[in-house]
Amino acid sequence: MNLDSALQKHAEWKTKFRTAISNKEMLDDLTIAKDNCCELGKWLYGESEALYGMLESHKNCKAKHKIFHMEAGKIATAINLKKYTEAEAMLGTNTPYNKASNETGIAIVQLKKEVDTNAAQQPKSEAFFDWSDELSVGNQFIDNDHKKLIKMINNFHNAMQEGRGKEVISKVLNNLFIYTSEHFKREEDEMLRIKYALFEDHRRKHQQLISQVENLQTDLDNGKIMLTTKVSDFLKDWLYSHILQTDKLLAAAISKAKS
Ligand SMILES: [Fe+2]
Ligand SMILES: [Fe+2]
Repeated sequence: MNLDSALQKHAEWKTKFRTAISNKEMLDDLTIAKDNCCELGKWLYGESEALYGMLESHKNCKAKHKIFHMEAGKIATAINLKKYTEAEAMLGTNTPYNKASNETGIAIVQLKKEVDTNAAQQPKSEAFFDWSDELSVGNQFIDNDHKKLIKMINNFHNAMQEGRGKEVISKVLNNLFIYTSEHFKREEDEMLRIKYALFEDHRRKHQQLISQVENLQTDLDNGKIMLTTKVSDFLKDWLYSHILQTDKLLAAAISKAKS
């Protein structure tokens, strides 16, 4: 809801009435008299209720807006009854319409202010899988690879949550799979280079994940399983514990080999 445009639209009613008077138009006075038919009214009684219904400025805006439409409805009726002089007088300063119009304007501005403050205080929505210092193994190339993997797991998770098509999701999963394989290869090359004692054990863990994901892709392609966020939960948990339990040992060995 754009409250700036709501403000403008309500201010425009005066001009609309004056035009109707000079063109001797008929107006839908019953709808004009209702406070839940215009865009602002629908928003006030609809989606904003749950979010901002408890705010004083929301309650006030509703009350003032109701009076505004009541008064506007009276003018529209006067125009329909061809009481043009009377209608024109009702639009003047120091009239109930003018008062209601000014108060509605102020109420919208106050509501906008409170809605904006409220939005600014809302915590930023967190990613599904956030990188944290705890995950740093202290080796730049491994950390960078892991950051990229986390990003790709988030993309995969978002694609599923947004209900993207099967083709898009399997493409995202495939990219993740390719990058994971390349990352594992980089780690394994390092292990060979430093003649890492835990090489076999570490490589077996990589291979296990690779075959799990391969099976997953096959089952997906054959329509045996449906993708759910359980898959991204699994990938997140796997990477998280693999980094903490396995890659940290490797990074420590790499740094020891350097010294
Ligand atoms: Fe690893
Ligand atoms: Fe790794």
